[in-house]
Amino acid sequence: MDYNFPVVRTTHPKARPEDETKLGFAKYFTDHMFAMDWDEGLGWHDGRVVPHEPLLIEPASCVLHYAQMMFEGMKAYRTQDGEIQIFRPDMNVKRMARTCERMCIPELPEDLLVAAVRAVIKEDIDWVPKAPGTALYIRPFIFGDEVSFSVLPAKHYRFLIILSPTGSYYAANDKGLHPTRIYVQDKYIRAAKGGTGYAKVGGNYGGGMRASQDAIKYNCKDVLWLDAQEHKYVEEIGTSNAFFKIDGEVITAPLDSGTILPGITRDSVIQLLKKWGVPVSERKLSIDEIEEASKNGKLEEIFASGTAAVISPIGTLCVQGEDYTVGDGNVGPLAQKLYDNIYGMQTGKVEDYMGWVYPLGLKA
Ligand code: COI
Repeated sequence: MDYNFPVVRTTHPKARPEDETKLGFAKYFTDHMFAMDWDEGLGWHDGRVVPHEPLLIEPASCVLHYAQMMFEGMKAYRTQDGEIQIFRPDMNVKRMARTCERMCIPELPEDLLVAAVRAVIKEDIDWVPKAPGTALYIRPFIFGDEVSFSVLPAKHYRFLIILSPTGSYYAANDKGLHPTRIYVQDKYIRAAKGGTGYAKVGGNYGGGMRASQDAIKYNCKDVLWLDAQEHKYVEEIGTSNAFFKIDGEVITAPLDSGTILPGITRDSVIQLLKKWGVPVSERKLSIDEIEEASKNGKLEEIFASGTAAVISPIGTLCVQGEDYTVGDGNVGPLAQKLYDNIYGMQTGKVEDYMGWVYPLGLKA
């Protein structure tokens, strides 16, 4: 469909952050956002680009009470020639549809997400950062907005896309990476079979915050979740999927339990490893197997993958207060190679030999 969204430009453009090497994650937001509404009988309507401003919301709005919402995470990158491109947006469209289905949120037409992302980035193109390791983080989200305390799907929804020039989620060194400490969570759980683990919903993250507080106590940046039933098999990290390289084999949790977020970077890592001939398995991996490998010197690498996290190496696992060093505790060569290839393709420094990059046809 040929969308032609009207634009209301801000009358108060903000000063852009001066030092792009100190952006952090989602601390600054651009001048504009995309907004669209859904109503019964009308469907999705009135897509528009408007100034990024606080929302007016009724305190009895159902989302504030029952959290009927979903979100996505994407990034836009600037190449050396000033082309603006995004990464595998078809995967975000598919995941968004699955999340909406799970949350009883009306699905968007398939081509709408990319059209809306393009429309809002067009207004804020100068905000796409240039510095190494940076990108424009894109946060599309939908929430039910109806004055109602009935535990039923809303009859009115709001779809917004907001943008944030961003650096790495975890602290990085001059090569874009820095190993982090991760806390293995064996008390709380993130997701159980039949729940919302595979969907991108705020509740999955809000419910994880108690566990992140435990992690912080042990000087760790995040948690590694274990399965809900046995508290034995590794699932994912608070913000991202997790990969373990043990004795040459790279292992990540399988998606079939419905408790793992199907990450786009996760899928990209698996595809790249297969292409490079590195053995990769989507299989159950117990924390005991990891501890054993660490004791035998076979735990070569652990890294997280995600849109925000990109590829984030893990140098230490903290299991019940005991530290397990991963490899030599530094950035592993496979994590570095994956980061260089994925971020390289995204920013146009490495040829897109997987056909993953999606140029928006915008030039800064
Ligand atoms: C992303 O990587 O885009 C996410 O949504 C994870 C979030 C916790 C930062």
